[in-house]
Amino acid sequence: MSFKVCTEPGNHAFAVEPGETILAAALRQGIGLPYGCRNGQCGACAAILMAGDLAYPEGKTEALEGRPAGTCLPCLAVPLSDLTLRVPEVRSATQVEARLLPCRLERKAQLNHDVMGLWLKLPEGQRLQFFAGQYLDFILADGRKRAFSIANAPHDDDLIELHVRHVPGGAFTEHVFHGLAEKTILRIQAPLGTFMLDEESQRDMLFVGGGTGFAPLKGMIEHAMHRDIRRPMHLYWGARSRRDLYLPELPERWARDWPGFTYTPVLSEPDPDWTGRTGFVHEALGADYPDLRGFDIYLSGPPVMVEAGRMACEARGATMDHMFSDAFTYARDGKPATAAAGA
Ligand code: FES
Repeated sequence: MSFKVCTEPGNHAFAVEPGETILAAALRQGIGLPYGCRNGQCGACAAILMAGDLAYPEGKTEALEGRPAGTCLPCLAVPLSDLTLRVPEVRSATQVEARLLPCRLERKAQLNHDVMGLWLKLPEGQRLQFFAGQYLDFILADGRKRAFSIANAPHDDDLIELHVRHVPGGAFTEHVFHGLAEKTILRIQAPLGTFMLDEESQRDMLFVGGGTGFAPLKGMIEHAMHRDIRRPMHLYWGARSRRDLYLPELPERWARDWPGFTYTPVLSEPDPDWTGRTGFVHEALGADYPDLRGFDIYLSGPPVMVEAGRMACEARGATMDHMFSDAFTYARDGKPATAAAGA
């Protein structure tokens, strides 16, 4: 027996067949529910169960820990009755199908002591249709995948830009830093993910990044500027010390040239001569914005940072409808590991 799921505020209804997860049924029927890992680890699909009953046959609900009562994970949940969910729907990313593509490493350049910039070129005549903030998977020779956020905006799509942080002991990033040569042919699957700007919103935007979590935020901010979206934007970028802030001149230039753009770097292990903000990035955000009810908040970085940011934002009145995150998990060398896109 199938059950009916209704969404708020999107006001959509769709059927979930027996044994089907809510997310799988939604995507099959073109309903744009958000998702990331699709295995109960990232929390990107989190929704509020307003009415009805559901179950988790696989029993994996670790991403629910610390979330408000009533939160559910549509990627694993199956209905036990008709349901109503409160969930921010994705209107357009689902219209773009992820493709398996060959690409050539056109350029490689070290951006600081542990971040490498990669620029990928698709085969002649091909462009990647994507939304600012989405990510791609590299498909390795043995079939494993490595996820990295796309750091450029869709209007600037001649090359695909990635920021790869060196992970000590991680074979893939070791290869990127010490072996991978320009002109090498790689395989990718893209675009992926539903982390993207809510362009219809009229709210001020807060961007909160940690480390290479800057990458998708860069794409979103460049996209917003390209679309001439004039809502105020404030970027917080957290890192340990000054040398971890790669491309620092870029947000400094945005702050200088774009009215309404503010940039606040925050260092947790500041250099002795640092005169800027210190501590954790979510603490700086919370100190500056004690009431977050009127904002759209975009969080990107290591899951621990995103989670701390989410909790800090919720404590200041932000709701899930207006918080967006790219946190997801990937496997490192066969061992489960957790990292932000691009880490
Ligand atoms: S997509 Fe549901 S927890 Fe990641």
